[in-house]
Amino acid sequence: MKVIVVKDYEQMSDKAFEIMKQVVVANPNGVLGLATGTTPIGLYKRMIEDCKQGTSYKNIKTVNLDEYKGLDVTSDQSYVYFMRDNLFNHIDIDLNNTNIENGKAENAEEECARYNALLEVLQQDIQLLGLGSNGHIAFNEPGTPFGSVTHVVDLQESTIKDNARLFNDISEVPRQAFTMGLKNIMNAKKILILASGANKAKAVYGMIHGEVTESLPASVLQLHPDCTLIIDEAAASLLK
Ligand code: GLP
Repeated sequence: MKVIVVKDYEQMSDKAFEIMKQVVVANPNGVLGLATGTTPIGLYKRMIEDCKQGTSYKNIKTVNLDEYKGLDVTSDQSYVYFMRDNLFNHIDIDLNNTNIENGKAENAEEECARYNALLEVLQQDIQLLGLGSNGHIAFNEPGTPFGSVTHVVDLQESTIKDNARLFNDISEVPRQAFTMGLKNIMNAKKILILASGANKAKAVYGMIHGEVTESLPASVLQLHPDCTLIIDEAAASLLK
């Protein structure tokens, strides 16, 4: 894993944008694996600005990591809404080329199978990731098998608490989500993982220096041949 330590969130977003832009320019028909959360917003702002300057996403396809079960675009807490609001509505991408699990699918099993089949066809040229404070990636909580594919997950209490800040009340945070599995993530040609802030420092340390273990899902990234981690000083504070 290549580790890049930068000063703060803005520098992390600058560096992430450099890497993302290289992929978009080299693969104008490529597949971007995208993520939600606070971490990638700075990167998305830079992509929007760059698109205004002429970089086109007209033929780019996207696959997103995860979605809350029970929410869809009609809810402003859904991840599909987040993606449109923070990126897709501001670039020249064709919304038909953007993919995410349908949180309101009637048959969850069929929805997971549909998404897995789609990921077989749309191998990510790059997969962007944030990091949960408990070491989760996408919504793959500690204990998720490395061989997992898209599935429905019961969210851990710590994840519900972390994400409650984005809801009016913690009781509104869905208890389940659809998520790409770790195998789907590892299938990407290139992985870019970002982490900012002191609450990520422990997970960052374990991900880099700990053993590769299902108790820390992000540790699987040590096994990926082309993975770059960009962290700010606060997230890097426990590293030697
Ligand atoms: C959620 C998402 C993850 C994300 C994580 C960290 O649990 N499912 O994909 O990486 O939150 O979020 P943030 O970037 O807001 O810290």
